[in-house]
Amino acid sequence: MDIALDLGTANTRLRINNSENAIDEPSVIAYNKDNNEILAFGQDAYEMLGKTSSKIDVVFPLEGGVIASSGLVEELVNIFMCEVCTSRVVMPRVVACIPGEITEVEKRAIVGAISSFGVRRVLLIESAKAAAFGTGMDIMSPHGCMVIDLGAGTVDAAVMSLGGISVSKTIKIAGNAMDEEIIKYIRRNHGLIIGKAMARNCKEVIGSVIKSDIDLTFRVKGRDSLRGLPRAVEVRASEITDAISDITNAIINTVTDVLEDTPPEMLGDIQTDGIMLTGGLSKLKGMRELLEKETGITIHRADDPSDSVVAGCFKATAFIEEAEAQRANLNPLMTVY
Ligand SMILES: Nc1ncnc2c1ncn2[C@@H]1O[C@H](COP(=O)(O)OP(=O)(O)OP(=O)(O)O)[C@@H](O)[C@H]1O
Ligand SMILES: [Mg+2]
Repeated sequence: MDIALDLGTANTRLRINNSENAIDEPSVIAYNKDNNEILAFGQDAYEMLGKTSSKIDVVFPLEGGVIASSGLVEELVNIFMCEVCTSRVVMPRVVACIPGEITEVEKRAIVGAISSFGVRRVLLIESAKAAAFGTGMDIMSPHGCMVIDLGAGTVDAAVMSLGGISVSKTIKIAGNAMDEEIIKYIRRNHGLIIGKAMARNCKEVIGSVIKSDIDLTFRVKGRDSLRGLPRAVEVRASEITDAISDITNAIINTVTDVLEDTPPEMLGDIQTDGIMLTGGLSKLKGMRELLEKETGITIHRADDPSDSVVAGCFKATAFIEEAEAQRANLNPLMTVY
């Protein structure tokens, strides 16, 4: 039994055999701080965010695609794996993704958390490579291709060829950082304190990286920062564009840095084929258009951008035997642990 696992900062996706996305849930866990009892996970825990008593903690145990709280990541992996592994007779092999720039210690921590479930083998694949593979790009040919995966905790931009990554850059500034900027902006400019879920909702509904003639509005609800009482304000999309502009610029710089370091031959291939955008944040309004304007290269967005990475991990499960047979981890696609 082989499992594809995308342990994301905001969402965990898991696929098994040929079934559809077996699990697609927020990477959240709620537990009782007094006795460490797990109270909820996934969507149920996400709905508890900011609404619990002081005894209950609701946490995202992954930050920037790496483990921030190892015990809780193990719990989360175990809960999700138990949901899909109906039989424990056969120990599964797992293909999991990792951000591009990650230390050996961070990799080992991810492998350790997955292994705590009792698996036969863990294989790691970089998120950008999995995303490219998942969208059907031919990453094994001697042809340069480029993917930008925009998530909640990381932005991964990578140029690949012959199954390997030639140039890449990862930054730990993405969707979550935008939510934080929205919270700060609304407090500073409207005197209103709002929660993370409200900020994220506002970004997803009206947020845009470019201003347009139709300035949509969104009603944000929170607490007046001076009086402490409930209050709501109408926020305009153009305000959100300003609030998140530093993050938007960091994303553009990451992409242009990678292009600047790309060898000319591969750059030619990328100019011909365009760049593929994946990840939940690629759905942010204006993102595709802005990146196209800034790079001068056609940008395609994957049909189902949130699913690309797990789809790639799943496709890679077909090559597990090949990777296992290769000595000294020479397999360009994934690393065996
Ligand atoms: N329609 C939308 N508009 C804007 N942003 C969106 C939309 N849908 C999802 N997002 C954002 O995408 C991010 C989640 O994307 P994704 O599920 O790819 O992240 P992840 O894989 O969990 O994170 P990472 O890869 O960084 O570890 C969140 O910041 C979310 O707010
Ligand atoms: Mg991701």
